[in-house]
Amino acid sequence: MSNHNPSRENFGSKIGALLAAAGSAVGLGNIWRFPILTGQNGGAAFILIYVGCVLLMGIPIMMSEFLIGRHTRANAAGAYRTLAPGTRWNWVGRLAVLSGFVILSYYSVVAGWTAEYTAMALGNCFDGKTTTDFPAMFANFVSNPWRNLFWTISFMLITHVIVVRGVKSGIEKFSKVMMPALFIILVVLAACAITLPGSSKGIEFLLKPDFSKITGSVVLSAMGQAFFSLSLGLGCLCTYASYFRDDTNIGKTALNVSLIDSFVAIMSGFIIFPAVFNAGYAISSNDIGPSLLFITMPNVLEQSFGNIPILAYGVSVLFYFLLVVAALTSTISLHEVVTAYVSEEFRMSRRKAATFVTIACSLVGIVCALSFGPLDGIKIFGMSIFDLFDYVSSNIFLPVGGMLVSIFTGWYLDKKLVHDELTNRGTLRAPYLRLVIFILRYFAPIAIATILLNQLGLFRFF
Ligand code: PFF
Repeated sequence: MSNHNPSRENFGSKIGALLAAAGSAVGLGNIWRFPILTGQNGGAAFILIYVGCVLLMGIPIMMSEFLIGRHTRANAAGAYRTLAPGTRWNWVGRLAVLSGFVILSYYSVVAGWTAEYTAMALGNCFDGKTTTDFPAMFANFVSNPWRNLFWTISFMLITHVIVVRGVKSGIEKFSKVMMPALFIILVVLAACAITLPGSSKGIEFLLKPDFSKITGSVVLSAMGQAFFSLSLGLGCLCTYASYFRDDTNIGKTALNVSLIDSFVAIMSGFIIFPAVFNAGYAISSNDIGPSLLFITMPNVLEQSFGNIPILAYGVSVLFYFLLVVAALTSTISLHEVVTAYVSEEFRMSRRKAATFVTIACSLVGIVCALSFGPLDGIKIFGMSIFDLFDYVSSNIFLPVGGMLVSIFTGWYLDKKLVHDELTNRGTLRAPYLRLVIFILRYFAPIAIATILLNQLGLFRFF
């Protein structure tokens, strides 16, 4: 079925492959970005559009990335070169690697904050603090270049150590231990949040749609979030699938990864919103901005559980540790996209390639981290460097990458190849095949183009 290269590593088991791919998908996108966007964009109505994007675009595009990766058994750029030699499709792979590089650089900054806050939670630093203390605490931290840089680079180094160990003993082993731990923490925290006295308002916010909030930019955000959260459009899942075994069921894996990812996002909503409402915050205010996890949440945890100090301590440590684990399984996958590319395309050892990637991403990460301190005066299109990276990569690079993947699979690839990969050469049933091809050919490219053109103001459809 696939171009086998015997010296290339594979995941050792199907569950290991599933947990690694789910680890890539589940990350700060679920626990940080999703609740912020939900809070800013009308709660349940936003969630409905988001779920629509996952079902109608996310899952078919994920299947495309999986089949391209497994068939070629190459890094993202090598995969397109193998399938479409000498054509401009090669640029899709290169764009994917570039997006991976950009996202890893700014993602590590927020990942570093989660590590700092875990250390603070462990040191019981939130105990006895009041609502006015937390903004100052966060402002002090992010504007302190050394502390910010220390954590950004530390996070990059931990990612580096795991990636260097390889696919089976690094990525797979780590995901197999950490993903189940993440699910357990998530359920414990949701149980704590739902039992808070004011939680019903938060639950209502998550379940009752207000469609008056839906605008073009809300739809774009929901689509961008679906791509970001599912790790689509930048060759991450394509690279992971290049390590899938021949008997991995691509359709089932894509469905399971998407279900796990959406479950974690919605559970995070059920942890954060009941607690936020319980503490009396107004959802539309700045409290639900990027500082949600670092100003609002420590305060919310302290107010909600502070009368039982040991509970407040335990919940805070678990909450920030959850964030570290989620972020780490994602930074590993982003690092792997670029490392596999550098190692295979420039024929370098994995260790050398990973070192090169770690240094290059750390340098860009430093610039992003400093955009909260010494470089905060620099604005491009009215955004800080950090915000610009986040906006451009998730609202433009990833949807454009996803659109190109879907056109590539729907129109360019041989139907037999697609059929063979999705059915493992006729040994599995794939009754969804025609629907998936229809989505990839028509629905996904047209929907993504419409939403993007509308938002960029080139055409006004809605
Ligand atoms: N999906 C990750 C998250 O939700 O945090 C972020 C991410 C990882 C995006 C890997 C893209 C990617 F390729």
